[in-house]
Amino acid sequence: QALTDILQLKKGQKILIQAGAGGVGTFAIQLAKLMGATVATTASEAGANLVKSLGADEIINYKTEKFEEILKNYDAVFDTLGDEILEKSFGIIKDGGKLVSVSGLPNARFGKEYGSGFFKTLLFSAASHKLTGLEKKHNVQYTFLFMKPSGEQLRIIANFIETGKIKPIIDKVFSFKDAQKAMEYAESGRAKGKIILKIR
Ligand SMILES: NC(=O)c1ccc[n+]([C@@H]2O[C@H](COP(=O)([O-])OP(=O)(O)OC[C@H]3O[C@@H](n4cnc5c(N)ncnc54)[C@H](OP(=O)(O)O)[C@@H]3O)[C@@H](O)[C@H]2O)c1
Repeated sequence: QALTDILQLKKGQKILIQAGAGGVGTFAIQLAKLMGATVATTASEAGANLVKSLGADEIINYKTEKFEEILKNYDAVFDTLGDEILEKSFGIIKDGGKLVSVSGLPNARFGKEYGSGFFKTLLFSAASHKLTGLEKKHNVQYTFLFMKPSGEQLRIIANFIETGKIKPIIDKVFSFKDAQKAMEYAESGRAKGKIILKIR
């Protein structure tokens, strides 16, 4: 949804995917490569080999390098980290480019699209006023994404997996009785790929 519906990523475009080694990032890198984009991503040394194996063209070690000083004129950014990292991401996007975040703040546009009602939309607008300022300053469209269930899109992704075009990266598998431990591991923010909770 981030890459197709919002960013409408095209062959040859340049995209930065933040936290490429994470659960969202490992899928996003592969899907963006499949769409023909050039992909830069941020990762620590521990995730560098993984993101390289998934096809990342440029890897920024976020512990020793500053992506905002290295990358410029990007068509798009997929942010999974929010806060300051999201704010800095505006600066690497070219005029008229797009930024989508799954970890930032919802804005007034999100409120209207999701039918959140007048007061919630007003609240979103107030909370995201800094991001709205950055949108105007850099002429970049900012969208907050809250993923929607879509059988049709899942079928497309399942087909990519079955035909070997993309592979799910599984970090750890927890049994259902260890759900608490799985949550704690997810909250650690250190996962490399997805965390699986086995129901049976
Ligand atoms: N809005 C929505 O619909 C939606 C849907 C799904 C997920 N989300 C949100 O999206 C976010 C990402 O989810 P996720 O499952 O991908 O997270 P995750 O798997 O927990 O991400 C962990 C990865 O992020 C890397 N990382 C941590 N800090 C980083 C930094 N400053 N720069 C670059 N990489 C960094 C870690 O690398 P190292 O360990 O090597 O440092 C680790 O590999 C979460 O906040 C989640 O709640 C939102």
